[in-house]
Amino acid sequence: MCGIVGYAGTAEAGVQSLDVVLEGLRRLEYRGYDSAGVALQSGGELVWAKRSGKLARLEEALQEQPLPAATTGIGHTRWATHGGPTDGNAHPHLGGDGRVAVIHNGIIENFAALKNELTADGVVFASQTDTEVAAHLLARAYAGTSDLVEAMRVVARRLEGAFTLLAVHADVPDTVVAARRNSPLVVGLGEGANYLGSDVAAFIGHTREAIEMGQDQVVVITPHSVEITDFDGHPAEGKAYHVDWDAAAAEKGGFDSFMAKEISEQPHAVADTLLGRTDAAGRLVLDELHVDEALLRHIDKIVVVACGTAAYAGSVARYAIEHWCRIPCEVELAHEFRYRDPVVNDRTLVVAISQSGETMDTIMAIRHAREQGARVVAICNTQGSTIPRESDAALYTHAGPEIAVASTKAFLAQITACYLLGLYLAQLRGNKFADEVAEILGQLHAMPEKIQSVLDAMEPVRRMARSMADTRSVLFLGRHVGYPVAMEGALKLKEIAYIHAEGFAAGELKHGPIALIEPGLPVFVIVPSPRSRDSLHAKVVSNIQEINARGARTIVIAEEGDDEVVPFASEVIRVPATPTLLAPLVTVVPLQIFACELATAKGLDVDQPRNLAKSVTVE
Ligand code: F6R
Repeated sequence: MCGIVGYAGTAEAGVQSLDVVLEGLRRLEYRGYDSAGVALQSGGELVWAKRSGKLARLEEALQEQPLPAATTGIGHTRWATHGGPTDGNAHPHLGGDGRVAVIHNGIIENFAALKNELTADGVVFASQTDTEVAAHLLARAYAGTSDLVEAMRVVARRLEGAFTLLAVHADVPDTVVAARRNSPLVVGLGEGANYLGSDVAAFIGHTREAIEMGQDQVVVITPHSVEITDFDGHPAEGKAYHVDWDAAAAEKGGFDSFMAKEISEQPHAVADTLLGRTDAAGRLVLDELHVDEALLRHIDKIVVVACGTAAYAGSVARYAIEHWCRIPCEVELAHEFRYRDPVVNDRTLVVAISQSGETMDTIMAIRHAREQGARVVAICNTQGSTIPRESDAALYTHAGPEIAVASTKAFLAQITACYLLGLYLAQLRGNKFADEVAEILGQLHAMPEKIQSVLDAMEPVRRMARSMADTRSVLFLGRHVGYPVAMEGALKLKEIAYIHAEGFAAGELKHGPIALIEPGLPVFVIVPSPRSRDSLHAKVVSNIQEINARGARTIVIAEEGDDEVVPFASEVIRVPATPTLLAPLVTVVPLQIFACELATAKGLDVDQPRNLAKSVTVE
């Protein structure tokens, strides 16, 4: 997720805006980024510098070619979404005659239409970003109004999607203007200086007094003032608060660990992955998917290759893809794929799922697949990484950088992207009518709110986890899409709490694993919706009865209102009613929180579990 800093100070304070902005960007490094840039307003001119790579590269460039003294400035660390991580795509982006500079966090959904409009009007774009559209629009609006704040409102009203925009203009001294919708922005209140940041870490070294901006608001800061309005110019207010975190806690947004923070970000990860995927007529469009449509119509098999959590995302997707598209779909651990001499050819679509895009096992699998003539689509969270580069097409998840080693928000974003791919294929191949696709898309868009409602009700799960710090073994059971969720729940517990855990298909229980059940053994059971088909629900309720009868501690994750499970459950964790195929987006959340809280209670380093690396770049 991009990092954003803005600063408006005075010459009397003797502070250079460049120093404040770079310090802020350094404190935001934890968010992850692949390029960085600054723009300063200095003596009626705009000066700027930007580089791909780490902040150190930008700082080297600034040493070679120093910028003039300035007391107003903005800075940005970019996590690439539209366009790779290059110098040219780094922020700031300049509008019009280069007198306005804009930085941006988020995704402008209607950028393609706006870009076409501007291009038709003679604007030449210097980057592949959606941000540059906002920069040109702002320059034009300013030319019409000579009022930077009003110009920002004009632009904000035209944009759809998620954005935090910050701008400085050569003609407007001591002023930074910003707008936000669906993307974070906080104001820092100083003495003779004010600040903007994507979170308080950006200015925690200077002030602990902050204002959280509301939705659809514009703010203008000068050294001595902060003014907030809505997008129509009516006065508005943010929420003032005092920050009592230290710098390390500020990076984690007040959470104990990055993992806890990332779990809390999951509604956004899903919502952002869904952003910008429909056209004006409501049809699903996957612009990034540059694979010949005729080819996609003729594929006769899909093979998902991935490792660990990403493979479980693929296993969830398989149920949806086969159901919606009627194409056989296999899921294969990437490191096993090429060794079994798989049958793939030019009618096979290989889907490689990877958060990092650098997992060597998955890279080797896609190389093998392409050698056999298969087309490869990458579902990836990291722009410019190897897996999307070596694939025929990429569909990016927009979870933002994941810092904790254990994958959480990337998992939900991967599942979401797979749903989009499945629906797109179903639409393209005529397996689903447009209204059916629209209905499922509507259900998907309702998921972030449902995930949030699960997050809001997790205190009993946390209490239970804390009381189970001495547990030696935990089992997880599920059927249908609940099966990969059970596997994922077990993996989370193994990797961060170092507890023996197994995930099983519930139907497999009586073929062996039931022998493990002994009095008091905690067993999580993921129960499908009672509205699901083929007596799936009844079968899982029978499984709960079987293990309950043998004395296990049955911890049941069930839909609100599902009372059939209650007599056999030691504990019931409720999730909102959800269409069967989309349920993993909510049922996995209590399992992530259980593992995270239990590991924390054991005093373990949740973010950096032993023996593990975030990106596994060796086979
Ligand atoms: C588990 C976890 C791993 C990764 C796996 C693949 O929490 O994070 O199992 O899912 O190593 O990594 P990526 O998605 O980067 O290819």
